[in-house]
Amino acid sequence: MTDSISLTIDGITVTAQPGTTLLKAAAAVGIDIPTICFHDYCTANALCRFCVVEVEGSRTLVPACVAKISEGMKVKTQSDRVLRARRTILEMLAATVDLSDSPEIQAYISEYTAQAERFPGAEQRVSPVLDDNPMYIRDYSKCILCWRCVQVCAEDAQYTYAINFTGRGFETQIGTFFAKPMPETTCVFCGQCVGVCPTGALKAKRQWLLEQSLTPDEIMSLTRTERRRKRREVSSEQGSASGG
Ligand code: SF4
Ligand code: FES
Repeated sequence: MTDSISLTIDGITVTAQPGTTLLKAAAAVGIDIPTICFHDYCTANALCRFCVVEVEGSRTLVPACVAKISEGMKVKTQSDRVLRARRTILEMLAATVDLSDSPEIQAYISEYTAQAERFPGAEQRVSPVLDDNPMYIRDYSKCILCWRCVQVCAEDAQYTYAINFTGRGFETQIGTFFAKPMPETTCVFCGQCVGVCPTGALKAKRQWLLEQSLTPDEIMSLTRTERRRKRREVSSEQGSASGG
C-alpha cells in the first residue's frame, strides 16, 4: 500500500490515501463540503464549482470534488472567499434557471443568504417542455447543465449515448442528435437520467401529468406504451367478438 498523505482541513489533521479527493478526505472527518453537479455514482467533472475550497498557496479556488489531496496541504472550506464564491454561483443560477423544482439548491440559497434577484438584467434560459414519449418529459428551462444525465446515459451506466451537449455558450443545452424526438434515438427509456437529475428538468411523465391536474384515467391513456395500447385493443376486440 502507498504511504498515506497528511493535510489539514479547517485546522483538522486528516490522513488519507493518495488519490483521495478533498471532498472525500473532508467527509472522512465530518466536514461536509456542499456540492451540486457531483453525484456519487457519476464521474466528477467539476462543472458547477459550488464545492470550491481555499488551498493555501493556490491562486484560484479549487473544486473539492475533483482536486486530489497532497502532503501538507492546508485547506479552508468556509473562508469568506469560499462563501462569497458559492453565494455568487447560487445567485447566477437563480438569475438564469428555473429552480422551482430544485429543493436542494433552494436550501443552499437560504443557507448562503444568496440574493436570487442580484442580477435583474440576466437573461433566463427558457425552453419549451419537450413531451415526445410516454415515459418522461424534458424541461430544459430547469436544467443547470450538471451533465449527470449525459454521463449515466453513456459510460457511467447505460452505454446508450442518446443525449449529449448541444449548442455553444449561452445556447448550450442537453439534446439528442439532430434534435430527434426521444423515440427516434437510441434511448431505451431506462429512466437512469431521470433518477440522477437534481432539478426536475427530467421528470417521469406520470408525475408531470399529475402536477398538471390530469385524472388517473387520462394519465394512464397518455402514458401507455404502444405495445400495451395494442395489447389492450386486441383484448377488447376479443372481448367484443366473444360477446363479452
Ligand atoms: S437535465 Fe438534469 S441531469 Fe441533465 S444536465 Fe440538466 S439538470 Fe443535469
Ligand atoms: S460539485 Fe464540484 S464542481 Fe460541482
